[in-house]
Amino acid sequence: MDFTDKKPQRPLYEEVANQIITMIDGGTLPVGARAPSVRSLAKQLRVANSTVVAAYRKLEDEGRLQARPQSGFYVRAPRRDTVEEPEMSRPPETASDVTVGDLRLLLLTEFGQPGIIGLGASSGAVSDWSAKSVHALMSSISRSQPRLSSSYPPPAGIPALRRQVARWYLRAGCTLSPDDVVITSGALEAIHLCLRAVTQPGDAVALESPTYWGILQTVEMLGLKALEIPTHPRTGPSLDALEVVLGQNLVKAVVLIPTAHNPLGSTMPEENRRQLVAMIRRANVPLIEDDIYADLVYEPARPRACRSYDAGPSASSLVMVCGGVSKTVAPSLRIGWCAPGKWLKEVTRSKAWLNIASPTLPQLALARFLEEGGYERHLRKVTTIYRRQVERMSELIAEHFPRETRITRPQGGFLLWVELPERVDSVALHDRAIKSGISICPGVVFSAAGKYRNCVRLNCGLLWTPEVERAIPTLGRLIAEAMGATAAGGA
Ligand SMILES: Cc1ncc(COP(=O)(O)O)c(C=O)c1O
Repeated sequence: MDFTDKKPQRPLYEEVANQIITMIDGGTLPVGARAPSVRSLAKQLRVANSTVVAAYRKLEDEGRLQARPQSGFYVRAPRRDTVEEPEMSRPPETASDVTVGDLRLLLLTEFGQPGIIGLGASSGAVSDWSAKSVHALMSSISRSQPRLSSSYPPPAGIPALRRQVARWYLRAGCTLSPDDVVITSGALEAIHLCLRAVTQPGDAVALESPTYWGILQTVEMLGLKALEIPTHPRTGPSLDALEVVLGQNLVKAVVLIPTAHNPLGSTMPEENRRQLVAMIRRANVPLIEDDIYADLVYEPARPRACRSYDAGPSASSLVMVCGGVSKTVAPSLRIGWCAPGKWLKEVTRSKAWLNIASPTLPQLALARFLEEGGYERHLRKVTTIYRRQVERMSELIAEHFPRETRITRPQGGFLLWVELPERVDSVALHDRAIKSGISICPGVVFSAAGKYRNCVRLNCGLLWTPEVERAIPTLGRLIAEAMGATAAGGA
């Protein structure tokens, strides 16, 4: 690769370091291998020796390379490999009422505060680039269509965007027509409309444990109960447990995040998806598939959506797939969608009666962004960055958090789930961290049954700065202090 004619956005040595990481991750440079000599790499890339040295020093600091005197730089086993993963979760076997406390609302307001390092949020700051492109498209569209604002858009959404969403889902193995798609104000609205179409207050729904707190909040708003399913941090929900729940007729719907789950990062293997869809068809129970992180998987291609395993016409599908661009393009656009299968009419009607339709301009701009290939290019860039930042955060945690800590190995997205020693109270930790200018998301908000008090979810998607690097050692110190205080209190 020739670096001389490129205009990198980051310093050149970081580009070189990235190149080495790609070789390590791709297996070209396995653990224990000697990295190319400084001189040969500098010659090959046509950069100065000092640039390669700076890149190697950075990788040494990050724990990816080890310098051996007189011999060169060697690939190290990542430190995070010494930290265990959490085990399969063990939620209670009965359904719980959901009470969304003030904590979740407090967190939402806290995440966007200036001066706070937002490790508690779940938004990728590098999306700023794509937001800029979409904003430019909005300006150009409003200039060329000045009368756009004077009429309501159709309740199911602008045809151009519905067409683009249907086309995009071909990658997920789904054959959708634009008429199968309803555009919503964010993915959470899509989930809300779908859940409402298939349940009555008092019904129970099955969910992963832990799961995204917005889903729990929707469950509460609709007067439903949550039945949490044991969930593995790599492969997702236990199908054995789901089979029992479906067999005993305990739930009216299943709501899952099968790909790059929030907060676990788990991705269900394709065979599990096939079995899951067969199970829900046998039980005749709808599955709401939250697909919002699927475009951020680290593999070159996303896995097929569960919806794709439900063969037959869309109008009879029991899988209601929901998605959006809040994690990939910009949360502020408030654009989401669903393909509600059998419940298309009910969902479209609810959307119209709830808020008539979603705003026209962001829909038109996003349709253009998708059509012109900007979305695809953007995804390639951001997934590489997110993967790298998740790895870096894991390394820092391995270095600075207590030995008993466990961390997930996400297969996509930008979130890490961290299990701290049992005696750490993550709500108290949150209160102390915010005083140090750092927000974290305490684990309790991801469970209806009040579990995961010793866990936190951390966002690795923010713009990576020296302040972010310093935040992890600070958190490590706060955790150590909290553990010391507990030990002293218990003595
Ligand atoms: C798994 C999951 N689903 C849905 C949403 C909500 O998406 P939106 O902001 O598009 O409503 C989020 C946001 O954090 C999420 O993490």
